[in-house]
Order: sequence, then structure tokens, then C-alpha cells
Amino acid sequence: MPVPIIVDCDPGHDDALAIMLAAGDPAVDLLAITTVAGNQTLAKTTLNARRVCTVAGITDVPIAAGCTKPLVQALSVADDVHGPSGLDGPRFPEPTVDVVAEHAVDLMHRILTGHPEPVTLVPTGPLTNIALLLTRHPDAASRIREIVLMGGSTERGNRTPAAEFNVQADPEAADIVFRSGVQVTMCGLNVTHQALATADVVARFEALDTDLGRICAELLTFFASTYRRLWGFRAPPLHDPVAVARVIDPTIVHCVDANVVVELNGRYTRGATVVDLHQYTGRPVNAQVALTLDTGPFWDRMVAAVTSLGARPSR
Ligand code: BDR
Ligand code: CA
Repeated sequence: MPVPIIVDCDPGHDDALAIMLAAGDPAVDLLAITTVAGNQTLAKTTLNARRVCTVAGITDVPIAAGCTKPLVQALSVADDVHGPSGLDGPRFPEPTVDVVAEHAVDLMHRILTGHPEPVTLVPTGPLTNIALLLTRHPDAASRIREIVLMGGSTERGNRTPAAEFNVQADPEAADIVFRSGVQVTMCGLNVTHQALATADVVARFEALDTDLGRICAELLTFFASTYRRLWGFRAPPLHDPVAVARVIDPTIVHCVDANVVVELNGRYTRGATVVDLHQYTGRPVNAQVALTLDTGPFWDRMVAAVTSLGARPSR
């Protein structure tokens, strides 16, 4: 039986491919896409989710817009990484799929309480919507099978020397999620930096010879230019699909148990995830922490998902 999931995202190049993986892989049942401000403003990330669903033929999954800003601090977008649109590179047609009228948190709550089985949440942006869900609807926690998130790092950051973007963008929200008691799996930079979209990977999308394959190649080519310019990477890391892949096949993403806390006060380290991989602190395990990615099956599943979506008749 496919695992029921909700992807909560801020598209974003890698979020776009996470949506495609979630919609195109038969091991998961994508119940909803919810959006949050992060890589860009909420208006732009929501427009981008509609654009992605339109070009990927994802017409039967509700999209709901969520929080416009972090819980405490001001919004600071990543236009240096994803461009002014949040999804620079390809030319997108006018979207033909719309958002539902409900707030993302209300839609998540309704799905969680109405679905026959517990549902897995896959956040790939700042954790604002998820934190609001957990604080506003404590009854929802028992309906969440697990939260498998892209965020944090066992090592250094990519927004500050210490902090990764999704956690640094809303540290108070991340703190609520890691302290919630819900089963959390953290796919941080240490593992997503293994998902490098090399020229060979881009060529696999081009070789599909479909409009969607070409759009993926264009997204990755833009992302490659960003990562080369900002960080000197030889190929861009496709962070967000790693979290989806962990749900699709847990053997693709190897994890260990650890305690994770979010630094809220550090003078130079606010937003860092402090991951106790060696049980120094005696604090209890509250997360599974991803350490290694099996890149062969990861890219095979990613390309297969885009292949199956590209083959769908547009409705
Ligand atoms: C995360 O930050 C965003 O820019 C990406 O979409 C990803 O979710 C990586 O740090
Ligand atoms: Ca993201």
C-alpha cells in the first residue's frame, strides 16, 4: 500500500522535483501540497507550486497556501539561490491548476483527522506551517505517522556558517517540531550534498525527450549555475527530494538515532541544529538523522517519477 503523504514546501528548484517525485512514484500517495514562505514570498512559492503541478499534469492533488512569514523573525528569502521568481530558468505557461480556499494548516488538519491511516508529513521548506499545526491542533500529532523533513545539518550550514536555510529561516518553528514528540527524520545538508545533479543526471532528463524532462533539465541547469557561483560546487545538490526518497524506500537514505536540538540564542549560531551523534549529552533520542544516500536508486526513482508524469495525458 502506498504511504499517504503531504508535501509542505516553498518551491524552489529542489522543491519542484520533490513534488514530482512525490506525485510520480507509486510507493507514496500524495494527498496534498501545502506552501509556505521561504525561498520566496508565499505568493511566489504558491504560484510556483501551481506552475509545477500544471507542467507535470498533477491536477488531482489539492494545493493550499499557508504562512506568509516565520513565527517570530522577519521573512528573508533566498533569491540569491532560486532567483527573483523562486523558480528561475524554464519558461512556465500560465498555470491551469488553482489553490483551494483553505489555509494549509486547516487542510493538513482535515486530512490528518479524516484519513483512515496516519499520514506522513514531508516538509521541504521552513517549518512554520508544521509548527502551527502542532500548536493549534494538538490532536493532530497522533494522526501523523512521522515527519520526514529536509533541513538542518550534522555539519556546517549554508545560510550562516552554522545554520541551514530551512531551519535558520524559522528556528522557533523547527524547535517546536523537534520537541513535539512526533517521530522526526532529519535529512540535512550532510546527506543532501550527496545528491549531486551531475551532467550525467541532467542528460538523463533531457533524454526523456518530453516537455517535463526538458523543464527538469532547465531547472537543474539554473540550480547548477547558482551552486557554482555561490559555493563553487561542481554540481548542485538536490536537497528536497531526498526527504521524499526516504519515505518511498527507507533503504535509500540510511539514518541513525540521535538527539537534535535547535539553537535559538547563539550569538553566531542561531538556527543551527545541534546533533548529538555520539551521545555526549545524555539527552534522549528525538530523531532519526540521515547520514548516507544510496545515489543509484535515488536518481533511478527520480527519473522514473518524471518519466511517468511526462507520460500522463494532460487533463
Ligand atoms: C533548503 O533550502 C532551500 O533553498 C532549498 O529548497 C532546500 O529546501 C536547503 O538548505
Ligand atoms: Ca525547499
